Order: sequence, then C-alpha cells, then structure tokens
Amino acid sequence: MLDSVVLTTNQHCSRPHLTKVDGREIEIQTHHHESVNQYRENSSSTTLVREFHLVDVKHVEQLIVSREIEKFKPLRIALEMNSDVISGVYEGGLKVWECTNDLLEYLEKSCTQFDGLNVLDLGSGSGLLGMFALKKRASSVHFQDYNAEVLELVTIPNVMLNEHLNVMGTAKFFAGDWGSLSQILGSYDVILTSETIYNPENYLKLLEVFEKNLQKNGVIFIAAKYHYFGVGGDLTQFENLLQRNGRWTTSTCFCSNEGRLENKGYLGCAMGKARQAAKTEMEKLKLKDMSCLELLKEAAKIIYIVHDEVKDKHFEMELSWVGAVTEGRHQKVPQDVFTEVERYAKSALEEDSDSGNDDM
Ligand SMILES: C[S@@+](CC[C@H](N)C(=O)[O-])C[C@H]1O[C@@H](n2cnc3c(N)ncnc32)[C@H](O)[C@@H]1O
Repeated sequence: MLDSVVLTTNQHCSRPHLTKVDGREIEIQTHHHESVNQYRENSSSTTLVREFHLVDVKHVEQLIVSREIEKFKPLRIALEMNSDVISGVYEGGLKVWECTNDLLEYLEKSCTQFDGLNVLDLGSGSGLLGMFALKKRASSVHFQDYNAEVLELVTIPNVMLNEHLNVMGTAKFFAGDWGSLSQILGSYDVILTSETIYNPENYLKLLEVFEKNLQKNGVIFIAAKYHYFGVGGDLTQFENLLQRNGRWTTSTCFCSNEGRLENKGYLGCAMGKARQAAKTEMEKLKLKDMSCLELLKEAAKIIYIVHDEVKDKHFEMELSWVGAVTEGRHQKVPQDVFTEVERYAKSALEEDSDSGNDDM
C-alpha cells in the first residue's frame, strides 16, 4: 500500500552543512550509444513498461555477475546477497519499485503539467518518472541515483532507448549520496521521488536537497509505502518531520489500494520461508469474525510458532495495522498495544508447548 504526498515550499532559509562525499555528474558517452544500439538490435533484452522501453533487469544482472568489472562490485555484492538494498553500498536502483507505478498513474490521471519546467527525478533508479516528465515536455530533467553504475547500466540506456524523448541537452545524470549533491544539482520546479524515504538515517540529507534545490513555490511528489518493515522508514514520521520543519505544506494526493489483501479476495496471507507453516496455523482461525486486535495477537503468535530457534536467526517483530481503529491509515501499532500483543503471543506459545509436553 502507498500514500503519496504533495509538498509546496514557502521560504528558503540556510541550514547547517552536512558532510559531502562523492556527488558527480555522469555524462552520456560513446559506449552508452553502443550499448543502446545493441539493445535495439536485441529486443529480447528490453522490456516495455507503460509506453517506455527499458533494459531488462535480468539481462543487466547477468552482465554484472558475468563480468568481473571492479566498478560493478557494489551491485554484484547486492545480487549475490539477494538484497534489494544494502545501505551505503547499493540503494535499490536496478529494479522498478511499486510506488513508481502508482505515482505515474497519479500524474497521468491528474493531468499534471510539466511544460517548460525543470524537473528532478530524485533516486531515479530506472528513470521512469523523469522519462514521463520528458515526454510531457519538461524543459530539463535531471536524474539522480546513489550508484553511478545504476545510471550507467540502467538509467542512461533507458532514457536513450526511448527515441521520442528529447534527451540531448535536456537530460542530465548525477550520482552520489544526497548529503553531497545539493551543490551540484540545479534548482527545480518539480521534484519527483519514489521509494526514497525507507531509511530514517537519510531524512536530514533528503530535507537538505529539498530545501536547497527546490524553487520557491515548487512542488515535490513523494511516493512511498506507509511503513518500511525492517528498515524503519515511515511516511507519517517523514511527514511529521516536514511539518515540524515549518516551511513545508504537505497533503496526501493519492492512496493506492493495489496492495490491499481484500482486493485479491484474501483474508490473510503469509510470505517468506515459513509461509507454509504459517498458512496451516491461519487455517485454524476464523479470520472473518476477528477484530483487528485479535488478528494482531494471532499473527504475532504465528510468528513465534513458526520461528525455529535453532535454525533461524534472532528476529525483531514489527506490527502495524489499518482499520477503523486508525481511521483507515496504515500505522505502526502503539507501544502499549505492541506490549499486550507480544505478551499474548509468548504466553500462548508457552501454553502450547506445556500442553505438548503433557501429551507425551
Ligand atoms: C528503492 S530505490 C527506488 C528507485 C526508483 N525511484 C523506483 O521507485 O523504482 C531508492 C532510490 O533512492 C536512491 N537513494 C537511496 N538512498 C540514497 C542516498 N543516501 N543518497 C542518494 N541516493 C539514494 C537510490 O539510489 C535509488 O535510486
């Protein structure tokens, strides 16, 4: 599930400097033209997303793994570890994340205008958002990704593959950490950014880019999930930070129902390694008749039941809910609810194992 927020600025004030590392422009070079020509000749290594041609991520992954090129090392590590993100090494730009599709849908349906505007696709990955702005006649579009290799292997070829886009002199590409970029990026009327608030450690750097690189009365479209489990990023937390900062107005312009389970006809689902065991436990419950709190308690109990203390790593449970209790917003559960649920799950588990011993 996602929420998207529109933000407008009021005043600009100076803020303390953050450490600067590694920000640089990546220019389009001959080898980009060569690889784009190869992609054009071999259409099986490209794919169509909405109306845009993109290089096939599987093809790029094979390239990264098969060639021992030093500069691709961060991406190779991420692929070998099967990780979507490794903080400070690889920040997820290879694949297209869900919220990009949702933001594209919103921009299309709301007929958002880009004519003559300067746009930044911040945390661009595939570059779909910036390409959309180019198609809608933006005057310039800058693409930014943490990993220069993502720009080299994915973003630049993607933008060039779409011949109808006016790229030369209009598109620019920047690599590096947000903490090092505000000086070399431009000044934008619109910033588009999808799935970039997953790590709270980056919030102040993001805020610095927003403050320094958005023109007065500019707009930022943020597409994000309500909560990023495991990393801790959270839309409400980020929105609160913006509001506390005092110079932003925020509003929700679009909520996607795509991820909602009831839309798929499910009452419950389990993912990951122990999903089959979890499914067996879920089938014992009358999910339809249970309250949100009861569901949380049983979900927590199942997590404890299916966890194998010997084989599995230690885990930290995170719980969130959405319903009447949260007025329809997806939120982390309050601490008192968490404590109650965790206590229930642990004691139910102990009871289970006691009765198991009795049976023997
Ligand atoms: C999860 S990916 C999302 C990619 C793309 N926007 C999408 O939705 O498909 C996060 C993006 O933010 C960028 N990013 C994350 N942390 C960053 C940081 N500290 N500095 C610069 N870029 C960062 C990544 O390089 C990547 O482009």
